[in-house]
This record gives sequence, C-alpha cells and structure tokens, in this order.
Amino acid sequence: MKVRRFSSDSLATVYTAALIESLLQREPHPVLGLATGATPVNLYRQLVDFHRQGLSFSHVTTINLDEYVGLPWTHPQSYHRFMQDHLFSQIDIPPGRTFIPDGTADDLEAECVRYDAILAAHPIDLQILGIGRNGHIGFNEPDISLKTRTHVIQLTEDTMQANARFFGSGEQVPDQAITMGIQSILQAKAIVLMAFGRDKAWAVKRALSGEVSTEVPASFLQMHPNVTFVLDEEAAADL
Ligand code: GLP
Repeated sequence: MKVRRFSSDSLATVYTAALIESLLQREPHPVLGLATGATPVNLYRQLVDFHRQGLSFSHVTTINLDEYVGLPWTHPQSYHRFMQDHLFSQIDIPPGRTFIPDGTADDLEAECVRYDAILAAHPIDLQILGIGRNGHIGFNEPDISLKTRTHVIQLTEDTMQANARFFGSGEQVPDQAITMGIQSILQAKAIVLMAFGRDKAWAVKRALSGEVSTEVPASFLQMHPNVTFVLDEEAAADL
C-alpha cells in the first residue's frame, strides 16, 4: 500500500481532490465511491471550488458507502442530507446518478439487495474512504466475522460515541446502519483512504501493518493492489 504524508490536512485534501479531478478528466463515465464523516468535508469543498473553476460532474456517477437506519433523508445528520449539503447541491451531477443506501426502507434486506445490484452495474473507479478510530471502514465494524456485501449492521458503542459529536445534545445516535460490505469496497479499482488527527493513528498503523483481521476491518485493504493512505502528520504519527 502507498502512504502519502502531508504536513497538514488541507494539503492532503488538495492532493486527494486533484486525484479525483484527474480521474474526471480522464474517464468518459467515472464512478466515484464516496464517504461521509468529518474527514472528507473539505475534500467536497475543494471539489465544489474546482467545479466553480470549470470542472464538470455531468458525466459522473457516485455511490456512497453507507447510511444510518431510520433517519429521514431530511435529517441534518442523515448521509443523504450530508451529501446534498456538502456536494451534490453545488455541482452539476445529474440527480439520478447519485446513489446512497436508503435507511428508511421498510424492507432493509430488499434495500441491501437493491444496492448490490447498483454496485454490480457501476464498478467503482476510485473509492474514497475515511477510517473509524476502531478501524472500521464504511460502517463495517470490528467483529469475529465480516459481511462481504451490503448489509445492516449494529453500530458499536465506540462508533456511536465518536459520531455523537455531530448530533444535538439529547438526540439519539442511530444504533444501526446500512453499509457496503468489505468485498464491495475491495472491488473498487483504486482506493484512497484519508485519515487526519491523532485519534486515527492507532487504526492507521494497524490497518497498514500487522495481520489482516476482522477485528480491524481496514486491515483488509492490505489485500488490494491499489490503495493509497493520505495522512496528516498526526494520523501518521505511529508509523
Ligand atoms: C463514520 C462513517 C465512516 C467514516 C468514519 C470516520 O462512522 N461511517 O465512513 O469514515 O466514521 O468519520 P470521521 O471522518 O468523522 O472521523
């Protein structure tokens, strides 16, 4: 796996945005795998900036990793709303070409099957990932086994606690999510994992080195031929 270290998260973000720009200029129908969370917020801001300078997204398809179960799409912390606010509403991507799992579906199992069909029809050229401080990717949480395809997952206490910062006080963090599975993530042609800050250092080190283990889902990235970790100094501190 390749590691790119930057002295700041803003430099790391511009680097990642430039990789996306180059893919969009190269491919007639690029498919981008997208992530949510605090880490990619400035990446999307940079892409919006590129768009204002002329970069078009009219030929792009996006596929998001995950969504909370039970949050309406309009909820400020739903990943639908996150993507709308931070990226989709500010670029020229056609509305029907952005895919996010529907955590409000009555039949969640059927929704997982539907999402796998979307993934099969749109092989991902470049998957952007963040990483949980426990080593999760998407919402694939550490466990004794991992699911390969899109599935409903019970979130760990650690992840709910980490994500509570985005929710209002007294507001309940959903305890379930729909997420792409590990195998679907590994099917992307190229993967860029972004990690910033000291509290990601353990997960970054463990993902990059040591055994591939379901206890650290990001360690499965070691099995992929084209993965780049884009890090600031703090996230790279333990390497
Ligand atoms: C969330 C998301 C992940 C994200 C991770 C880290 O739970 N499901 O896709 O990478 O946690 O989030 P952050 O970037 O806010 O640290």
